[in-house]
Amino acid sequence: MTTTVRTRVAIVGAGPAGLLLSHLLDEAGIASVVIDQRSRDEIESTIRAGILEQGTVELLDTLGEHSRARTVGHRHDGIELRFEGEGHRIDFAASVGRAVWLYPQHEVLKDLIAARLAAGQDLRFGVTAENIADAETSTPRVIARDADGRPFEIEAEFVVGSDGSRSVARAAVSGSRQGGYFREYSFAWFGILCEAPPSADELIYSNSRDGFALVSQRSDTVQRMYFQCDPDTDTAAFSEAQLWDELQKRVPGTTLKQGPIFQRDVLRFRSFVAHELRRGRVALVGDAAHTVPPTGAKGMNLAIADVRLLADALRRLLLEGDERGLDAYPEKALRRIWKAQHFSWWMTSLLHVAPDATDFDRRRQVGELRTVVESEHARASLAEAYCGWPFTD
Ligand code: DHB
Repeated sequence: MTTTVRTRVAIVGAGPAGLLLSHLLDEAGIASVVIDQRSRDEIESTIRAGILEQGTVELLDTLGEHSRARTVGHRHDGIELRFEGEGHRIDFAASVGRAVWLYPQHEVLKDLIAARLAAGQDLRFGVTAENIADAETSTPRVIARDADGRPFEIEAEFVVGSDGSRSVARAAVSGSRQGGYFREYSFAWFGILCEAPPSADELIYSNSRDGFALVSQRSDTVQRMYFQCDPDTDTAAFSEAQLWDELQKRVPGTTLKQGPIFQRDVLRFRSFVAHELRRGRVALVGDAAHTVPPTGAKGMNLAIADVRLLADALRRLLLEGDERGLDAYPEKALRRIWKAQHFSWWMTSLLHVAPDATDFDRRRQVGELRTVVESEHARASLAEAYCGWPFTD
């Protein structure tokens, strides 16, 4: 026996995009059901990036007291670009009058889940979507299995795929689960979490002959750092002392504050944009639609920008019967997506050392870094992208 639930919008995936969409729809009086194959605990404990654009924080403010981005998170008014052993500050406040907030993604997820449950959201964990049927009818369906393997279906007026980079919904929109524009990189990041005080007031993005490192933060006592590595690196292959050596040699001219390392992971670098973002009554948002390499922390911010557009399009469709917002969604979303693709690729190429880099490449890269830090206009362009391009509509 299949259990069928009916709702206005079925949302596949309880990441930042899916949860925020259910909140914005609820504010407009539109009911939704959100499913995710993961458990609540897994969603709330997976370590991801930590930087929120100003516009993301402002949208999370609509959660009211549930958003702790401004109270627990920290505002950052700049970053340091470090190369040739010297640091250069990019002053966001002076350049563009904007800021970012350091507030980890899993904390955003805790806030969103608490807010949605408090509002009575139908939010189901451990439910695995298998496919989306009838995309081109007015009653698309999500075919799924519940935590006990029993068949479960959602019949809706619209289905949103916010189910991440291994999206099931993508097949219903793009024709295949892989269909898209794709770029792979010859390096990755080795990420660590450690118990130590911050090594600097702001984040350090460092280019060195030995490759890139990012000195990020989590709190007064926990820090997050990354260094460029081979994508096939085994996280167990390094002792703690070796990890500190690798990190320290990539930030010459500054001394890292060390402490016990309690988490390690390797992050692969991929750029991807799905060929299609919408088919009939199914649309994709977030990592289901695109992935960016981590440099510049655009991933979650871009997902939230998609949701801002799609929530408005769904309000017009479901409250006013006006399809125009939905028709415009892919093109509008793709403008920002390709800008973010460019920015993430550019920050990556500006700072990393490709394994096959020649002496020419290396000197050209230092020339590019000098162009950025010595030009008021180039610094402002970086600051504008990093803090998030303003929303025009
Ligand atoms: C973090 C990750 C990023 O990719 C970045 O550009 C800045 C910060 C982080 O995890 O803290």
